[in-house]
Amino acid sequence: MAETTIDEKPQEEGHDAGRRDFLYLTTAAVGAIGVAAFAWPFIDSMNPGADARALATIDVDLSGIDVGQAVTVMWRGTPVFVRHRTEGEIQAALAVDMGELKDPQTDAERVKEGHAPWLVVIGVCTHLGCVPLGNQPTEERGGWGGWFCPCHGSHYDTAGRIRQGPAPRNLDIPTYSFLDETTIQVGEA
Ligand code: FES
Repeated sequence: MAETTIDEKPQEEGHDAGRRDFLYLTTAAVGAIGVAAFAWPFIDSMNPGADARALATIDVDLSGIDVGQAVTVMWRGTPVFVRHRTEGEIQAALAVDMGELKDPQTDAERVKEGHAPWLVVIGVCTHLGCVPLGNQPTEERGGWGGWFCPCHGSHYDTAGRIRQGPAPRNLDIPTYSFLDETTIQVGEA
């Protein structure tokens, strides 16, 4: 199972919030792959399916992600945004009239039941594949407070739904599950 670690980018002097803003998650997936590759000849004949499944998942520790923060984790070479939404962001997402949406989905359809604060989306714009801005509070979040894609101006709301711009659909949601209250596993277990 790949281990998730948290690295902090250099602190901007005098900005405690900034220090938190720059939390950046990387995973030990590369190391795990290396170990798995070495071990492969020995375990291949025993249970190759289990090993392949382990490489397809990452575990993300949510305990260090404060309310209002968002982080990026890499899963199979793709950025995944994990956002700990504020109550205001949740309420804004719930209040949306489905008729306003290009790709109608309720907020409940985009989070796990009982885990409304946690939004997990693929961090790739559904227009032409840029990585949207908005995981750091210092970045533009667009007109609906979610993410903004600077490539051609797509705006996503606090549920990751497309609200304005050329993107044809909402930010995709990866397969993931809660292993416990503070850990999610992204990918197929
Ligand atoms: Fe995001 Fe075009 S790639 S708006």
